[in-house]
Amino acid sequence: MSNLNPNMPNYLKRFEAKWKRYYEWAREDYRWLLMFFLSRFKFIRNLSAYFFYQPHESLKNLPGISCLDSIEEDKIVDFLNKDGLYVGINLPSKLVKQIYNYVDTSNCYGNKEFKFSFPYMEKEIAEKKYDQTFIIGDYPHVVRDCPAVRQLQKDPKLLEIATKYLNAKPVHLSTKLWWSYATEAPMSDRLNFAQVFFHYDLIDYRCVQFFFYLTDVELSSGPHVCVLGSHQNKKLTHQLSFFTGRSDRDIIDYYSTDNLKFVCGKAGLGFVEDPYCFHKGIPPSQKNRLMLKIVFGVQSYQIGS
Ligand SMILES: [Fe+2]
Repeated sequence: MSNLNPNMPNYLKRFEAKWKRYYEWAREDYRWLLMFFLSRFKFIRNLSAYFFYQPHESLKNLPGISCLDSIEEDKIVDFLNKDGLYVGINLPSKLVKQIYNYVDTSNCYGNKEFKFSFPYMEKEIAEKKYDQTFIIGDYPHVVRDCPAVRQLQKDPKLLEIATKYLNAKPVHLSTKLWWSYATEAPMSDRLNFAQVFFHYDLIDYRCVQFFFYLTDVELSSGPHVCVLGSHQNKKLTHQLSFFTGRSDRDIIDYYSTDNLKFVCGKAGLGFVEDPYCFHKGIPPSQKNRLMLKIVFGVQSYQIGS
């Protein structure tokens, strides 16, 4: 696996683990490279709200019936504007079961490699068979093969939240379902597959992502952590730096621990976040975590995943 220098600063470790992918994406679509450099600046993101603006009237009456009954879209958008995070979009238990039916009957791919295919309950057997330590188990065909996930990514209430927050017709960018395993793998190996240091993501000029836990998540099973309000309040050095990762010390010194939100909850808990907020995933230490992520932006890029 990785040969990262353990003494290297976290932001450099993160970049070293990612630069090849960034290079490929820049070659595949120059617009992505432009976005990657420009969208780190708050004033550019603010300007893009006007550039990509579409009247909401033209986006009303989205087809279909929402499976999310009791959510208040306007309240959620207010939280997103203020905190960059809203926790409490709960999936109906029927949908959680349907996704589990898919997981129970499909193979995942260890560390995103198609050559390491196994049913999730046989992870330990697969690790011995392939002589590997798996940090994640990915389901790259989930949209194609799981109707419940397809239904959710087109859910009218999710699309309405995305529309109102982005001020534009949301463009679906990605949907991912994956296990994060409780392992003793070194942090340097984890960095290849997981975002374990505070960072913000430059996915698009305006972007929103929905997460759903499909296992119970507590402090020992890899909670997501968000720095509330950090999408509106970034130091100039956070924006000017090429590196979007920051140390815990830097984050706590500037934002204080009061603004760190650890998202824990039962299977089915959903939350929505602006990825321009600083955030990270704590590595699971005792229990594996299964999570679904659906991402919307304002334009798509011709890049791989
Ligand atoms: Fe991230």
